Parts: sequence; C-alpha cells; structure tokens
Amino acid sequence: MRLLVTGGCGFIGTNFIQGVLTAHPDWVVVNLDRLTYAGNRHNLLALEREQAGRADPNYVFVHGDIGDRALVLSLLEEHRLEAVVNFAAESHVDRSINDPAPFLSTNVMGAQNLLECARLRGVKRFVQISTDEVYGSLGAYGTFNESTPLSPNSPYSASKASADLVCRAYRETYGLPVIITRCSNNYGPYQFPEKLIPLMFLKAKNGDPLPVYGQGTNVRDWIWVGDHCKGVELALTRGAPGQVYNFGGAAERANLDVIRAILKALGKPESLITFVKDRPGHDQRYAMDFSKAARELDFAPSLDFETGLAQTLNWYRDNSAWLESVQSGAYRRFMDEWYGERA
Ligand code: NAD
Ligand code: TYD
Repeated sequence: MRLLVTGGCGFIGTNFIQGVLTAHPDWVVVNLDRLTYAGNRHNLLALEREQAGRADPNYVFVHGDIGDRALVLSLLEEHRLEAVVNFAAESHVDRSINDPAPFLSTNVMGAQNLLECARLRGVKRFVQISTDEVYGSLGAYGTFNESTPLSPNSPYSASKASADLVCRAYRETYGLPVIITRCSNNYGPYQFPEKLIPLMFLKAKNGDPLPVYGQGTNVRDWIWVGDHCKGVELALTRGAPGQVYNFGGAAERANLDVIRAILKALGKPESLITFVKDRPGHDQRYAMDFSKAARELDFAPSLDFETGLAQTLNWYRDNSAWLESVQSGAYRRFMDEWYGERA
C-alpha cells in the first residue's frame, strides 16, 4: 500500500510508521509534517537516511503543512498514493484553552484541505484519527460507543468533532471512502512531555512537584500506543468506508493512581504530589466500548496497563537525551505560563 501519513513526526505517527514499515516492508509511506513544537524529525531519521538515494524509497519525509493545497496534491500524484492517514493535529487540551485558533486552523481547515485533495485525486481510503474526547464526559458509569452523541467540551475536542463532521460530509456528499477512528488516551515511547505520563515522569525524576488538576479523581482509559497503531492499520486494511471505530485499552485509571504508580516505580515520595487549580471544562471520565472494532476488525489491546507503564517508564529512562532535546524554549515558556497560573 502507498500511504500519505500526516503528523508522522509526532507521538502516535512515529509509532505508526515504525510499526507499519516493520510489518509491511513493501509499503510506501510519505510523511508530511509541519514540525511544530510537537514534531521531531529525528524520531525517524535513521529510516530516512537508510532510504535516501533509493529509486523508490519506502519512506520519504516532507516538511510542510496539511493545509497546503498545491503541496498535498503534488505529493498524492508524484508518489501515486492510494490512502491518507491523518494524524496531524494540535493535540494538547491545555494549549487549546490558552489559544484555540491553531486548533481550528490545523484540525478543521487542515483536515478539510486533505479531504478535498483526496477527493480531487481519487484516493481509495482516508482514515481520520479522532479521539474519544469528541463524546464529552461520562459520569461514574457507562462507556462511549460509536452512536454516543458528539458533545465536546474543550476547544481541542470541539475541533476534532468538527473534523469528524466534515469527514462525514465528504463521505455522504462526494462518496469519499472515509473511515474515522476514535481512540482513548495513548501512552508509550515518544510522547511529548506536556501530556500526563511523560510530564509526571520528568517532574518526578527531577524531584519537582507533580501538578495534579483538581482532586486527581478524573479517569482516563489508557491504551498502549502500539495497540492504537494496530487498530488504525486494521481500520485502513479492513474497515468499511463510512464507518466509525472506537479503540480503547480497557484500562480505566484515576489520575492519582497513575501518578502514584509512576512515583512508586521511580522510588520517589508521594509528598511530591501537589494539587493545583483544575483545568477549566475538565472532562471527568472517559471509557470506551470498542466491541465494534473487536467484532469487525479483530481489534484487541495486547498490553495491560501495568506492563505498558513499566515499559514506557523504562523507555523514558533510557532515552533521557530525547526527553531533553524536545524541551525547546517555546515549550518551557508555555509550561511556565500555564502552571504558573495554576499554582
Ligand atoms: P502530537 O502532538 O504528538 O503530534 C502531532 C503531529 O502533527 C506533530 O508531528 C506536528 O508537527 C504535526 N502537525 C501539527 N500541525 C500540522 C500541520 N498543520 N501540518 C502538518 N503537520 C502538523 O499528537 P499525537 O498525540 O501523536 O496525536 C496524533 C493524532 O491522534 C491527533 O490527531 C490526535 O488528535 C489523535 N489522538 C491522540 C490521542 C493521544 O492520546 N495522544 C488519543 C486519541 C487521538
Ligand atoms: P492529558 O495527558 O493532557 O490528556 P487529556 O487531557 O487529553 O486526557 O491529561 C490526562 C489527565 O491528566 C487529564 O485528566 C488531565 C490530567 N493532568 C493533570 O492532572 N496534570 C497535568 O499537569 C496534566 C498535563 C494533566
């Protein structure tokens, strides 16, 4: 298969590209990434170097924006791409609270540009990577299924829900073969240290206070990133156009439990836990019903949370240079501003 993967230098995109090219060495991946603060070309540099100079390389990196019509059209044509997998996004809820504009421009308008290019070039599959956050928040009971009404609460989730609706319109109006996947919170290697698990690892390692929003009772359904990537590959190869598939990890954990587990694994004291001002509009609980993907795609999470968390913490321990290198000045400024206000 010949794929345009967008946002492949981010957390999930990096894991996806590594996974599919290992499983399918005959596939071709063109990775279009704008390299925002969250994108790191070095993640896949070894692959890029290995392929450089080949007549028909199976991995090509292109620095650019998903909103660039001429660029996307030319890539689809030049590389004879059959499918698009759209990971590119502004992905952090806290940043979307600070400034929603880039979320609408990339997550909605950028996605619409990709859909339009895919339509113009007759792409055979378009997989839109969405999130459980489009469904809003759950109380103590129940799960989200694919028919749960969209009810996003943050600018981030509103932008992702908007993109889902535009995808639906492209399917209904133009017959574009769009598939939407909605997944719960991922964890694993290469996650940017603004998200809960790598952030808490970093803080704990340095002996800094761990900022817990509200009471720390919010629940997320954690999935190993490799399992999400496998689900996306299944949706791409076996999914039915027009369908939505939920993926989850069957691992609901309260934030405080996750944080305590990280402190324990690193041998750090619980006194580092610091309760800070809550995130506005903070969703209480997410939990996924992924029985449709299990039934129709043969999807099943492979790793339990405790094993996956141990592997993740080991990865961050072994890759402290990576962690250090992604913390740019812009990152540090955002962190100071955001957490400064919450203290
Ligand atoms: P990330 O922030 O780590 O990576 C996003 C990537 O997109 C970066 O490489 C960035 O440079 C690139 N990008 C941003 N704007 C771009 C643009 N205009 N043009 C081209 N590239 C651009 O995000 P992630 O955690 O890897 O998430 C990937 C996708 O999965 C997102 O669509 C996100 O909404 C979705 N998702 C994430 C999670 C999660 O837990 N992380 C869960 C469900 C769904
Ligand atoms: P996050 O990793 O930002 O993912 P999302 O908001 O997309 O679920 O946050 C996961 C949970 O951790 C969420 O309930 C917010 C909470 N959290 C904190 O308590 N402190 C923090 O510093 C961060 C970043 C998140």
